[in-house]
Amino acid sequence: MRTQVAIIGAGPSGLLLGQLLYKAGIDNIIFERQSADYVLGRIRAGILEEVTVALLNEAGVGERVQRDGVVHHSIELVFAGARHPIDVHGLTAGKVVTAYGQTELTRDLMEARAAAGLTTIYEAGNVVPQGFDGEQPFVTWTIDGATHRMDCDFIAGCDGFHGVSRATVKDRVREFERVYPFGWLGVLSDTPPVSPHAIVYGNSERGFSLCSMRSLTRSRYYVQCPLDDKVEDWSDARFWDELRRRLDPALAEAIVTGPSIEKSIAPLRSFVAEPMRFGRMFLAGDAAHIVPPTGAKGLNLAATDVKYLSTALISYFKDSTNEGIDSYSGKCLSRIWKAERFSWWLTSLMHRFPDTAGFGQRMQDAELDYLVHSRAASTVLAENYVGLPL
Ligand code: APR
Ligand code: PHB
Repeated sequence: MRTQVAIIGAGPSGLLLGQLLYKAGIDNIIFERQSADYVLGRIRAGILEEVTVALLNEAGVGERVQRDGVVHHSIELVFAGARHPIDVHGLTAGKVVTAYGQTELTRDLMEARAAAGLTTIYEAGNVVPQGFDGEQPFVTWTIDGATHRMDCDFIAGCDGFHGVSRATVKDRVREFERVYPFGWLGVLSDTPPVSPHAIVYGNSERGFSLCSMRSLTRSRYYVQCPLDDKVEDWSDARFWDELRRRLDPALAEAIVTGPSIEKSIAPLRSFVAEPMRFGRMFLAGDAAHIVPPTGAKGLNLAATDVKYLSTALISYFKDSTNEGIDSYSGKCLSRIWKAERFSWWLTSLMHRFPDTAGFGQRMQDAELDYLVHSRAASTVLAENYVGLPL
């Protein structure tokens, strides 16, 4: 069996890459460890930069995001009991972000792939990328105890943070990591979002909070919590009460509560693996980098990796040039580090750190005050929030 590009992982990175390659007439197969339903069951952030929406359109899967995505012109910071809108649209000469759940985006991509008759091998066991240092890479995998082999020209490691692709080259990778001393407790509920047209980021003495949404009838909220808290410790009533206590009085009053339909605790991490190319294998998305979710850059970074990678592979196959694949890793990392910096900065600014003594707290207070009262500082936040230029 043979394909041009073997893609490992059917998350947003792998599916989007597959779709863009298909549109350019490049044959590809995806190997996914889990079932499609399992992949669709993962709840993650869903704030899309314009670059990401444009890429979805280019891939021919932009219809639903255009119809159902909710466009945001601003964000809001809440601290010291007061609300501070940041006019992202005005500060960036007209840029916006779009709220659209990652689950929906993944479903759109899966449906487009099925409609195009492209192969995804779900529940593939023991997937191993091989031979990528030479001219003839291949992937092996098992189904029902039998081992199979797929020859290819390139391998795309789109298999997330715990995937096999980066693990295969672990001796050749330099890893940079910061783990934060708290987690996010997230709740999804079928209630109208308290702030349907602006994501609200809150910093209070009790910790960080976030009011987000999936649609005009589905909300997503988070509160900072200790890493060793258990979901069972958090009844819905306790969660709503805690969220309210971290917001300003008007927002707290306006929150419509309801039963949670999903509740989970996620750790926060910054992580980058360098480089992102190993001969004929490339890493893309969470396989190569993780950002803490403050700032919602994870999915957007995955999308720009895929943009660079698809462009590089298309020019290799169509124009016989190596230029794109040779510059892939450097181009991605330059953008990734800027998004890492932004996500780390916003995380540091908006959370309570257990070891921050009086001085550190005053620095945070001063920076927040400066941020909302200086147009220059607000512009720095806004231009990073909508995504730096490619
Ligand atoms: N073999 C095959 N598939 C694998 C393997 C393996 N050994 N290991 C992992 N996978 C699959 C996972 O089951 C998952 O479906 O790879 C996929 C990786 O998907 P994601 O983790 O969603 O990563 P990515 O597609 O890069 O998406 C990045 O996810 O975490 C968010 O913020 C992040 O929004 C961003 C997006
Ligand atoms: C979310 O909707 O889940 C979300 C939004 C913004 C973030 C993080 C998560 O910064």
